[in-house]
Amino acid sequence: MKMTKNILIIVSAVFVVGCEQVVDDKVTESGIAESYDRSKVPASRLKQGQSLFIKNCATCHGADAQGATNWRKRDKDGKFPPPPLNGTAHAWHHPKKALMYTIKNGTVMLGGSMPAWKDKLTDEEIESIIYWFQSKWPAQLYQAWTRQDKESKKTKK
Ligand code: HEC
Repeated sequence: MKMTKNILIIVSAVFVVGCEQVVDDKVTESGIAESYDRSKVPASRLKQGQSLFIKNCATCHGADAQGATNWRKRDKDGKFPPPPLNGTAHAWHHPKKALMYTIKNGTVMLGGSMPAWKDKLTDEEIESIIYWFQSKWPAQLYQAWTRQDKESKKTKK
């Protein structure tokens, strides 16, 4: 798993509409303080998340949440292709609240091309989808995300 390790060590600067900040973080194993037991998510929620993802999201983000291969480059209309959500892009930089917000509201109003889901999926369904794609993240990324998610609750309302 050489590839995964490289991604963990250097997550390079990424620019995507809807991302509040441009990031250039280095995540090392020693930099991760907290662990989180995601095995507590019930299998039924993961299953629900996967089937909802296949039905609603896979046409753009890929059946395995692998995204478009060229997701870093704007297309000829200046829009970004769908990024991976499987831990190889930067969805893990967004606290749960921000992920929910992006999925519920889409990115069209930000000049992107993802439709809004708030009228089509319930919060619980969206949450299951998040659980499912997070189940694909390498453990260290997931732990880093948990730490950031907790931080964001302290600093933002
Ligand atoms: C029509 C194509 C399309 C569909 C369908 C779609 N997305 Fe997206 N999604 C995108 C694009 C494109 C982006 C990148 C933001 C932008 O520029 O629009 C994106 C961004 C995201 C992001 C932010 C990722 C990040 O790293 O910041 C999340 C989370 C996401 N989508 C989840 C979903 C989920 C969950 C579904 C299904 C319920 C879904 N998307 C369906 C096109 C789509």
